[in-house]
Amino acid sequence: MITDAATIRRMIDEHGRWWHEIELAPGIVTPGDDSNRMKLPILDRLGLPQSLAGLRALDIGCSDGYFTFELERRGATMTAIDFVPETHSGFATARAILGSRAEYLVENVYNLAPEKHGLFDVVLFLGVLYHLRKPLAALDAIRSVMKPGGLLFVGTMMIDEYFALPDGRVTSLDALNPLLRNVPLWQAYPGDSLNGDYTNCFAPNRRALEVALEEAQFRVDVLEVVSMGGYARASAVENPIAAKYQRLDARLEKTPLDPSVPYFLDEEGSVQTVTPRRR
Ligand SMILES: C[S@@+](CC[C@H](N)C(=O)[O-])C[C@H]1O[C@@H](n2cnc3c(N)ncnc32)[C@H](O)[C@@H]1O
Repeated sequence: MITDAATIRRMIDEHGRWWHEIELAPGIVTPGDDSNRMKLPILDRLGLPQSLAGLRALDIGCSDGYFTFELERRGATMTAIDFVPETHSGFATARAILGSRAEYLVENVYNLAPEKHGLFDVVLFLGVLYHLRKPLAALDAIRSVMKPGGLLFVGTMMIDEYFALPDGRVTSLDALNPLLRNVPLWQAYPGDSLNGDYTNCFAPNRRALEVALEEAQFRVDVLEVVSMGGYARASAVENPIAAKYQRLDARLEKTPLDPSVPYFLDEEGSVQTVTPRRR
């Protein structure tokens, strides 16, 4: 831990580019662009426990680590992952100054696996989902490293109040048609069409996020749409039917052929009526 104010200021300047605002010493805050400090009260409102003593928590896409260090302050044993090294973000600098013991892994969310990472009680998945080309696969991987009953906090762009029209204007789904509220929808962002950022891929509406979480074996406890985004708290549950189709979809992805996972056409009672047989 580093306490000398001049050294801390120098280290913050030397790192240069910050995403998060993190108070690294009384009154010394990193110059981040993000509104991360305003998101914490939302997570608290959703039920992020004040005390995490004795719990293992994972921060996915941790960036500079504001949320990692906050959960560690609340008592959790922290693992933070991001697909860039910790010196690329401000994480390494902030960790050294705070004297944090958080483990940092250069890792892709898709590669989370219980054999490699163990199981977690609390998982944060904030500001990452809408950047992903494979959002449902990411939720499956996350679920695989959660203890039953564990809590997942998801924060993402959502389209209920921020549906992008082809002419660049934005409207709400309700304004388009109130019936859309209960239709699970993902809006795709081709190229850099959302905010000039090629890494923005898909954003769900409330119903689509609920369905995606349920299909990955979560129960949605609470979900709040907040302006152009939203936050959900979901609990890891066991749902044998969802589990079966998760395994089928992941067939051969990481493991050798498992004959105990039935191929969908071979299942007893399987009815394929979508494409009727030609006579
Ligand atoms: C918008 S920032 C969000 C940072 C932080 N979670 C927050 O909410 O303030 C997205 C972060 O996710 C990381 N990221 C994006 N795709 C990822 C992936 N597939 N696996 C791991 N990290 C990823 C990026 O490097 C970046 O640090």
